[in-house]
Amino acid sequence: METFGDTLSRVMKRLSAADVFCGHGYESIHDEAVALILGAAGLPQEQSYDLLAAPFPPSAQRRLDGLLHGRCEDRVPVAYLLGEAWLAGTCFTCDDRALVPRSPIAHLLREGCWPWWPKTAPPEIIIDLCCGGGSLGIIAAHAFPSAAVFLSDIDQRALALAQENIERCVTEGTVRCVQAHLLASLASGSVDLIVANPPYVSGAEMGQLPPEYAHEPRGALQADEEGVALAVEVLKDAARVLSDRGLLILEVGESAEALEQRLPSVPLIWVDLPAGGSGVAAVSAQELRDWSAAGNL
Ligand SMILES: C[S@@+](CC[C@H](N)C(=O)[O-])C[C@H]1O[C@@H](n2cnc3c(N)ncnc32)[C@H](O)[C@@H]1O
Repeated sequence: METFGDTLSRVMKRLSAADVFCGHGYESIHDEAVALILGAAGLPQEQSYDLLAAPFPPSAQRRLDGLLHGRCEDRVPVAYLLGEAWLAGTCFTCDDRALVPRSPIAHLLREGCWPWWPKTAPPEIIIDLCCGGGSLGIIAAHAFPSAAVFLSDIDQRALALAQENIERCVTEGTVRCVQAHLLASLASGSVDLIVANPPYVSGAEMGQLPPEYAHEPRGALQADEEGVALAVEVLKDAARVLSDRGLLILEVGESAEALEQRLPSVPLIWVDLPAGGSGVAAVSAQELRDWSAAGNL
């Protein structure tokens, strides 16, 4: 009978032959294969190496075949196939109402945004702007348990998923969903920490993306003006919305260069991220107001 180890080798070969793209929460074909096999067998993701010698249950084989068809033929990301995604140690419900959670901001939040946010006085009001399924705001709520956290998105379907994740991952009633266009509905000076992961893929880049991205909502990926239209709007309005001690953490990924070209007089600082990744800026309220006053934003 085939062991888990045999099954792992077979699944890795199948994923390699299909040339799947690993960029949706799993960094390698090995990690995807492990997740698919354990998912098919209904086992938790944390396992000992002893499992490799155990027989792979025949009852799990049919489910594994279905998962492999979805992954290799239909190019569905593993997290959508399994209905859940891990990010920075938390497991979220995941489906095509929102992107597969994978923002590198998660790991910065887990460290309390140190050194960008002081350890002594936690933020009181946090917004996860463009929250999708709510992963970043929920990780922020775990890192700053005394804060009120708002998960904000324009898309009601994404917010329904975010609400499910609040119910799954948050025990205290400190996290709420809000439907809004960016920061438009927020009062001046009302927010200490904004974590913003807006869509930032340009129209030209959309056509170049691997087929896995076609399963994600287009409105969660694509933005106008070479991908930076929403990011520029966030920078401008955050100057108004942040409190005096406020901080904006803004992800624009591979559109960082386009943002610098769009705002040539704004000296954005790109964060050295704890678990890798790039294109995340940290900007204080004071810097934003100074740039705004100088007419650079
Ligand atoms: C990159 S995804 C965010 C993913 C999320 N941070 C996560 O980790 O799952 C961008 C999100 O921005 C939302 N969005 C797009 N346009 C928006 C707008 N004008 N105002 C607010 N949210 C918007 C989309 O619905 C989508 O959920």
